[in-house]
Amino acid sequence: MFQGVLFDLDGVITDTAEYHYRAWKSLAKELGIDIDREFNEQLKGVSREDSLDLILKHGSKRSDIDDDTFKELAAKKNDVYVEMIQSFSEDDIFPGILPLLKELKQHHIKIALASASKNGPLLLKKMKLTSYFDAIVDPSSVAFGKPAPDIFIAAAKAIDCSISSCIGIEDSKAGITAIKKSGALPIGVSNSQDLGTDITLVSTTNDLTYEFLTKNWVD
Ligand code: G6P
Ligand code: MG
Repeated sequence: MFQGVLFDLDGVITDTAEYHYRAWKSLAKELGIDIDREFNEQLKGVSREDSLDLILKHGSKRSDIDDDTFKELAAKKNDVYVEMIQSFSEDDIFPGILPLLKELKQHHIKIALASASKNGPLLLKKMKLTSYFDAIVDPSSVAFGKPAPDIFIAAAKAIDCSISSCIGIEDSKAGITAIKKSGALPIGVSNSQDLGTDITLVSTTNDLTYEFLTKNWVD
């Protein structure tokens, strides 16, 4: 049986993937770059800096931006995003997530957060979920971001579980790639067009029950 569950946050626990998109879209627009939802799939799960890099390259503007301006733009996007999430509360938790966290606790399964977001701890606090997590990995503590497996490996280590005894839950392509490389069992929250046909998928977090995870676990 699995011993740990490694959760992504944005787009899995709550709808912040949408706010990251809106904040990037508005910054990109100011720079004269148009991004759409299809392009945004590449940004999901990817660090703030790597996302900005991808957007600037997409608009063929990367070479116009020096280091200081790059930092200012990344900070500007984060200010807009942080403003958007100020009102977050328990009401913003995706359906099924709170019951799942409770069921996992009842079954003594360890829970870790493996999010690339530096705003993860703030969001968990706002949604009153912090106490469910046995570990929250600091994304700045790992050498490589998703799609590298580092953050999932660090998350399993932080809860004293072998990575092969863990399930990773993700909504992004980069995150699923990271879970696959780590050796944990991936479960995707999205459609097969975005995440592929070779992994277990749910179209809504309501389907993420303890029973569902056990049924999909192969010892
Ligand atoms: C998550 C999101 C990304 C975001 C990244 C960094 O992985 O899916 O869209 O860019 O976190 O988030 P941050 O809040 O630190 O800018
Ligand atoms: Mg995500």
